Amino acid sequence: MRFAEVDSFDQWRAEARRLLALDVPPADVHWSTASAQPSLFDDAPAEASHRPHRSVSTPSPAFTVPPAFLELAREVACHRDPIRWQVLYSVLWRLLHGERALLKVTVDNDVLRLTRMRKEVTRDVHKMKAFVRFRKVTDGDGEESYVAWHRPDHQIVRLAAPFFSRRFPAMHWSILTPDESVRWDQRELHYGPGVPVSEAPNADALEEVWKTYYASIFNPARLKVRAMKREMPVRHWATLPEAGLIEELLREAPKRVGEMIERTEGFEQTAMHYMPAELDLASLRMAANCCTACPLHGPATQTVFGEGGENARLMIVGEQPGDQEDVAGKPFIGPAGQLLDEILGRAGIARHDVYVTNVVKHFKYVATDSPGASSRGTHRLHQKPNSREIFACRPWLEAEIATIRPEAMVCLGVTAAQALFGRDFRMTQQRGEVLPTEWCANTMATWHPAAILRMPDPARRDQMREQLAGDLRFLWSMLDRPPSSELPPASSH
Ligand code: URA
Ligand code: SF4
Repeated sequence: MRFAEVDSFDQWRAEARRLLALDVPPADVHWSTASAQPSLFDDAPAEASHRPHRSVSTPSPAFTVPPAFLELAREVACHRDPIRWQVLYSVLWRLLHGERALLKVTVDNDVLRLTRMRKEVTRDVHKMKAFVRFRKVTDGDGEESYVAWHRPDHQIVRLAAPFFSRRFPAMHWSILTPDESVRWDQRELHYGPGVPVSEAPNADALEEVWKTYYASIFNPARLKVRAMKREMPVRHWATLPEAGLIEELLREAPKRVGEMIERTEGFEQTAMHYMPAELDLASLRMAANCCTACPLHGPATQTVFGEGGENARLMIVGEQPGDQEDVAGKPFIGPAGQLLDEILGRAGIARHDVYVTNVVKHFKYVATDSPGASSRGTHRLHQKPNSREIFACRPWLEAEIATIRPEAMVCLGVTAAQALFGRDFRMTQQRGEVLPTEWCANTMATWHPAAILRMPDPARRDQMREQLAGDLRFLWSMLDRPPSSELPPASSH
């Protein structure tokens, strides 16, 4: 029996070549996964794109492997199931021992296993692309960057990272995961250690985790300090500029972990909890019907999910369903919806090109007695959703965006605009600007039709109506230009 310990595709390939050259059949190899990642407190510096691996002296035997297999193997290698190395070797062996067409035998047990693993990896990559949420942070040296925490099911950071570098080439961003972290410095991807699961930060703790640990891991200037420290006896640490910080870090770590876990628990209740495995609109809609992630589901009649085709080019995002939408279960059918329809028509945008949805999927209201109101005897007065409710509901919107991948998005009103552009968004200053966001290369915010209907001054009302129509027309006309080269192909995985 031979033992092969590997932790990446490259290592597996090197080992597999060596074993093939020695003619070792699959049954004679015991594959295991090397413990791959340095821990947070290891002094391993962030490394550039390729993780070095033990060099094995590799005879290069004369055999060729079908490219389709290598492609499959590269993805399967990211799966977490320890059996993957063995199944890969077994299939490779068989491909080279008389079963050239093995991959076409889709009922073969090994092939089935590999395709199942690949599917799970692909789906995980897709989820990462859809659900990673960046938060703006300021590094110690005052530089702005964007950080996200994500917990993939499989070891897919290196499969997904290139997508983010194409998507956000002009930003400094980092994604932290339990397996490893990746940073983009506008030129190159750098990989570093993961965040222990015990420290999974929520949105608020993220900045702190970033500043405390990762800013220095990824900061070359500080890396030198780390390298020096490694070379130096402990008694000299005190004279290093950052020694205080390092010691405090080590001392404080257990307490910090406890605090972070506590803070994370309150956030369990988001729509993520109800997210189906399949990200098609029918599955999403069905799952959202059962969502009770925030208190809004209680008094409302039903979930009002988005409406429109999976191929819609334009996504329109409102605030939340109103009274009529709540009763009918469809977005934008009341007075605001009618005005929107009229304006879309004037802008030459057909209904089937549009997907309409809201930031929050349940109607929020207070019941007030109002003389002359409907037979219910009460009037349901619309209330703005608060940030907790928007946060809880956000995964539904993100899933809709990931599924539809619209070419353009319009936020109607400040609530939707702030949900997508951030809290600093100001409608009076930024209305009608087309900006790239992490959701869509062409994102714009403009007046909410309900705000137009509420406007008491008729001249101002007409002006806002014209602006809304003009904004939509402008955005729509942009889509006829050739797509931006920054955008990845619609189904890169
Ligand atoms: N206003 C919104 O923001 N959304 C609707 O669906 C209806 C009115
Ligand atoms: Fe779920 Fe959103 Fe409804 Fe809250 S508003 S219960 S998060 S669907």
